[in-house]
Amino acid sequence: MSHLNIAILGFGTVGKGVHYSIKSHQARLEQVLGKSVNVVAILVKNLEKHEQSREDGVLLTTNFEEILNIGELDVIVDAIVGCEPGHTYLTQALEKGIHVVTANKEMFAHHGEELLALAKKNDVTVGFEATVAGGVPVIQTLRQLLQVNRVRKVEGILNGTSNFILSSMRKDGHTFEKTLRAAQENGYAEADPSNDIEGYDAYYKGVVLSQLIFGEKPEEQSTIRKGITDITADYVESADELGLRFRHIVTLFKGQKGVQCKVEPVLISTEHPFYQVDGVQNAVSIETDLVGNVQLQGPGAGMYPTASAILEDIIQISRPVNSEPAYVVYQEEAANSSKWVLFN
Ligand code: HSE
Repeated sequence: MSHLNIAILGFGTVGKGVHYSIKSHQARLEQVLGKSVNVVAILVKNLEKHEQSREDGVLLTTNFEEILNIGELDVIVDAIVGCEPGHTYLTQALEKGIHVVTANKEMFAHHGEELLALAKKNDVTVGFEATVAGGVPVIQTLRQLLQVNRVRKVEGILNGTSNFILSSMRKDGHTFEKTLRAAQENGYAEADPSNDIEGYDAYYKGVVLSQLIFGEKPEEQSTIRKGITDITADYVESADELGLRFRHIVTLFKGQKGVQCKVEPVLISTEHPFYQVDGVQNAVSIETDLVGNVQLQGPGAGMYPTASAILEDIIQISRPVNSEPAYVVYQEEAANSSKWVLFN
C-alpha cells in the first residue's frame, strides 16, 4: 500500500484538531485515498510543553529544516498564526514540491497569490478551505459556482468569536469581557483576540474571498474595517427591544473603482438571513447572476470544524485521479450499518 505522509506545523487548537481527526477518521481517509495516512512530524514552539504528545514514529521538533529534510513528505499542514514564519515555511515547502494546506488567513491574505503561483510552477497544490469560515465549505462552493456564475456580491459573518460575543452579551453580567473569555476557553478566539474583535480576522478572510472571486484584493482607499469593541451589552439589549440584532458583517462587491470591502457591525432586522445566526456560527450569502442567492451556514471556528476543512483539502489534493468521490464510502457504510436502518 502506498502512503500519504503529513507534517503539521503548530500544535495549538488547530494543529491538535488535525492530528486527532486524522486518528479518529484514519480508516475512512485510507479507504477514500487507497493509501496509508500517517502524521510523520509535528513542528512545535516548545518541546517540553508537548513532551506528553510524543509518539513513536512521529518527529516532534522545533526545527522546520528537519521536517523539510524528511524523505517522502507529501503534505504540510500550516496551523500556525501570523505571516511569519508561515510564509517562509510554505514557500520552502512548495519549492521542494510538497503540497501545502493552510488555515492561516492572515498569511494567505498577504501572500496567497504568490504562493498559488509558486505551487503552479512546481506542479503542487495549496489548499486554503480552512482560511475562511472554519468548517463551512465556502471556498469549494465558490469554486463550483464560479465555473459558470458571475458572483455579484458576497456578505458574510466570518468571525466566529465576534458573532459569539454579539449573540451572548447581556446586561445580566454576560459582559463583553466575560463572553470574550468564554470564546477563548472554547478555542474560537485567536491567541491575541484583538484580531477577532477589531475586525482584522474578518478582513483577512474578506481579502481571501476577494482574490478568489474577483481575482484582486479589495481597493484599499474605500475599505472599511471596524470591529465590535464599541458594542456593549446595553446596546445589544436596546436593539433587541426594537426587534434588531447586531451582526459583524463583511460585504464584498465589485464597484467602479475595484473591489469594495466593508467589515463592520450592522444592525439587522428579522428579515435579514443572518438574524438567526447565533453563537460561533458563520454564514455566507452569495449573490450570483445565474443561480441567484446561495447561502451557507455552520461552525466558523473551533478545533474540529477547522480540522474538517483541512482534511477535506488533504483529500482533494491526494485523491487518485478518477477515483470515486468520498461520499460513496458513506453510502457503503450506511448500507452495512444497523444504525442506518432507514437506508435498508
Ligand atoms: N478566531 C477565528 C474566529 C477562528 O473566531 O472566527 C477561525 O478563523
